[in-house]
Amino acid sequence: MSQKLELKETLSEFFRSNSDIKYILFGGKGGLGKTTLSAATSYWLAKRGKKVCVFSTDPQASLTDIFERKIFGQGEVEIAPNLFALEIDADKRIANYQNEIRNKIKEMYKMEKIPDEIEDYINSSSAEPAMAESATFDAMVELMTSGRYDYYVFDMMPHGHAIRFLGMAEILDQWVAKILDVRKKAAEYGETATVLGGGKGGLAQEDYVLKELEFIRGRLDFVSNMIRDKKHTAFFYVLIPELMPILDTRKAIEMFREFNVEISGVIVNQVYPETLLKEEGVPEFLKNRIRSQQNYLNQIAEEFGSMIKGIVPMLEREPKGLEMIERVSKILYGE
Ligand SMILES: Nc1ncnc2c1ncn2[C@@H]1O[C@H](COP(=O)(O)OP(=O)(O)O)[C@@H](O)[C@H]1O
Ligand SMILES: [Mg+2]
Repeated sequence: MSQKLELKETLSEFFRSNSDIKYILFGGKGGLGKTTLSAATSYWLAKRGKKVCVFSTDPQASLTDIFERKIFGQGEVEIAPNLFALEIDADKRIANYQNEIRNKIKEMYKMEKIPDEIEDYINSSSAEPAMAESATFDAMVELMTSGRYDYYVFDMMPHGHAIRFLGMAEILDQWVAKILDVRKKAAEYGETATVLGGGKGGLAQEDYVLKELEFIRGRLDFVSNMIRDKKHTAFFYVLIPELMPILDTRKAIEMFREFNVEISGVIVNQVYPETLLKEEGVPEFLKNRIRSQQNYLNQIAEEFGSMIKGIVPMLEREPKGLEMIERVSKILYGE
């Protein structure tokens, strides 16, 4: 291993000196190890007697694969003592929303059947990626406010989404404030409004929309406050010793900083053991890869320095199943 890559603080030291942490987030590009490291972290915490729920918010993710258990759409599944895993079926949640919307429309307009145009509109909304995100955030807030766990570990969606979502929270804040202001003015001219609006129906619907917006804002605020709360939340970024992930991590750190989100540390995954360079019979092809990784490791040490909280070697096979996850957790956290 490159000499420069010595950890100033390991992950277990981090958790020891930040004992109020409750929420742990793993971010980074796809395919680098977010789900694996989320699982290993949850495993380690559960082994130490903490009640943990690991929740995959990445639609690509698969705790089902990693734990080799049917988890998708099953609610909180107990994997080992104190260790629970959750993978929501976003499509099912969206279908439930759509039904709620249908019922509300029928109720509000006293309709027996939803007109076809509106039905088409409701159906097309399920294809929107924002709907899946919204369903995921709903489930996140539900889980966190349940208070049933000592730790909540979130295997996050790729960072672009998370940043977009933080931006959304700010826009929505302004939007709701504006609507509230307009509503207040309307109330001041209450009588005129009633006359012009042709009765109370207009205002009642406006109130309904406002209530929905405030509900959405409440959820977004909850999550964006959680991400910013350094006392209770740790946010780790996963990268590997390659150019694109380094550039990506740099950019993510900058972008999150713009939203006052500080990343707690980075974890370097999939590192080929340097000792292979001295072994006989290792193909030149692989040795080249290892040398290239060593260069990038030096770059990572220079750029991220004390932020590096863990290094995980490339294992001889994909870490799947509890035994392999235990192995990763021992590498990350020690015995
Ligand atoms: N240290 C490692 N050694 C070998 N394979 C790994 C390692 N870390 C992750 N993998 C494999 O790489 C793939 C991507 O990892 P995963 O945790 O699913 O990434 P992400 O959640 O960021 O997309 C998976 O097939 C996983 O088993
Ligand atoms: Mg994943």
